Amino acid sequence: MHPDKILHVLLFTAFALPGSLWSAELHSPDGNIVFSIDVAADGAPHYRVMYGEEPVILASRLGMRFQAQHGFDSGFRIAAIRDGSRDADWEQPWGERRTVVDRHNELLVEFESIERPSRRFNVRIRAFDDGVGFRYEVPKQRKYSKVNIVDELTEFHLPGDATAWWIPARRYNRYEYLYNTTKPDEIETAHTPMTVRLPSGTHLSIHEAALVDYAAFILDHRRPNVFKANLTPWSDGIRVKTETPFKSPWRTIQITADAVGLLNSDLILNLNEPNKLGDVSWVEPGKYVGIWWGMHIATHTWGSGPLHGATTGETMKYIDFAARHGFEGVLVEGWNIGWDGNWFVNGDVFSFTAAYPDFDIGAVTAYAADKGVRLIGHHETSGGITNYEGQMRDAYDLYESLGVRKVKTGYVADAGDVKRVDEKGIAHYEWHDGQFSVNHHLLAVREAAKRKISLNPHEPVKDTGLRRTYPNWISREGARGQEYNAWGEPPNPPEHTAILPYTRMLAGPMDFTPGIFDLTFKGAESPFRVQTTLAKQLALYVVIYSPIQMAADLPENYEKRPDAFQFIVDVPTDWEQSIAVAGEVGDFVAFARKERCGADWYLGALTDEAERELSIPLTFLDPGKTYTAEIYRDGDDAHWKNNPHDLIIEQREYSSDELLELRLAAGGGAAIRFK
Ligand code: NOJ
Ligand code: CA
Repeated sequence: MHPDKILHVLLFTAFALPGSLWSAELHSPDGNIVFSIDVAADGAPHYRVMYGEEPVILASRLGMRFQAQHGFDSGFRIAAIRDGSRDADWEQPWGERRTVVDRHNELLVEFESIERPSRRFNVRIRAFDDGVGFRYEVPKQRKYSKVNIVDELTEFHLPGDATAWWIPARRYNRYEYLYNTTKPDEIETAHTPMTVRLPSGTHLSIHEAALVDYAAFILDHRRPNVFKANLTPWSDGIRVKTETPFKSPWRTIQITADAVGLLNSDLILNLNEPNKLGDVSWVEPGKYVGIWWGMHIATHTWGSGPLHGATTGETMKYIDFAARHGFEGVLVEGWNIGWDGNWFVNGDVFSFTAAYPDFDIGAVTAYAADKGVRLIGHHETSGGITNYEGQMRDAYDLYESLGVRKVKTGYVADAGDVKRVDEKGIAHYEWHDGQFSVNHHLLAVREAAKRKISLNPHEPVKDTGLRRTYPNWISREGARGQEYNAWGEPPNPPEHTAILPYTRMLAGPMDFTPGIFDLTFKGAESPFRVQTTLAKQLALYVVIYSPIQMAADLPENYEKRPDAFQFIVDVPTDWEQSIAVAGEVGDFVAFARKERCGADWYLGALTDEAERELSIPLTFLDPGKTYTAEIYRDGDDAHWKNNPHDLIIEQREYSSDELLELRLAAGGGAAIRFK
């Protein structure tokens, strides 16, 4: 670096630019985060990030390479910079909080090649008080427009001695892995969000925002502490096929003083474009039940036969149950032709409009409408995307005509096995997070929106905050959910849901499907069981955010525990405000959330395998009011392993100046409604 040539861009002061500029800095609004960008001696663009006095990202490369053109790698200078800032609120139609504050400073850095052939690209940077985002903006080039990106050079160079929470990337099970807690140097590849704790206690999360018409990136561990963005390739090896001008998604680094800070960050949403759908009052948060868990615990089947779950009669029973308890939706899986045989590889034979003969879709939707309930549609594609795209419009038309407003989709196929059939009929196998799949999901979301349908994809591409732009992208899976407790080997261990909030959930809502009450459904000795207490299942409704939440167990199991079930009946899924109040990654977490259009607060707290006591200041409650707290907590002898159903339900009065003392059992939790 050349200190004499550093240009300090402070907040939104504009500077006249000298002819040859070597370096620029952008400060967050509170001044605590400083992003600097410069070129090395060989003209290779680099950036680094400071958090107060602490370096959090050391000198890291920027740039990209192309198949048929000279790369944006070295031989560049900074030709110009432009700065700006924003301090504005915007409103979410649904979400963790109604009002989101977008306060950032911005810098557009224009790079220009020093030698011929002449090349230009820009890096736009935004610095928030809780992190930074930057993206490549490639203008029209002089001699070409079509480009195939073969490599992105962006690095994330971490300081030493950090701890990382991560799942491996480019493995068959997509995002459905248990999280590892290791030193960064033990990682080979990792999906984002990847969360890192520095020895100082500062927490970082590396991810991306606004993934549109591009490949997702994974983190590739290149050198000690250096991770490189590795774009997921097409089956022909090209990473991104595009034309100039184009923009990459934002590369994001959330930076907070502690673990809880990450949970209260809106950075990913703030880096997405505003709502493009206009009036979205038809996108309805809510709770649902469904013909689902029975297939996972193998008492029913998706396919036809004596155990077929999706029958007209069974669906009507679920509709009655939903109506009785105020649930908005009933999901029915296995209703359509194509599930027989090995449905994991049936992507090509699924019909998305033809029902099995024992499922009368007209009758069930009419029955549901009569009871004020809606059917939730289901499209399992088994990764056969071309087959699905061929039927998608007809399938959404059918659902629209039947009053269906939400569709759960599924892409069960090994990672790298999403089937794309080209114009010549030749099959190609793509990744769930490559450009092809990214574009497919957005096509589906847009087609669904035209018919006032919201989508909830399972085995999806990772979330990058596009729900802001397309609010009908209402939820998704993209992590190990409850289903692993039915058949996973191993099931989700107690720490899993104490890691998810700090990793996967930083990306956006998850359809985890909480609420299993019969925790030892195959008997107390079976390894196939849920490794939580009953109170922790209730806590999940507050902790794992999703605007649609399933009550995942069988109705008869809820009927046996009406006392505990009352919490699921009461808990909202749409919030005026959400505040993470306590937690450490992998150990525990507590969230307080205030219902939308109401005065009640809810609190959910959960722990890993360690029993613990929490003291939570109730400062989030409205001052001067007395609340009646309905508390669902672990019994004194509760333990996930040998006494998971031990639950105490009690009432107490609280006000905002009091402390809430909570004891969580091993693998336990607590759920509270403050009325
Ligand atoms: C996997 C999904 O995560 C699960 O919820 C669904 O039941 C099956 N696929 C079948 O579509
Ligand atoms: Ca799944």
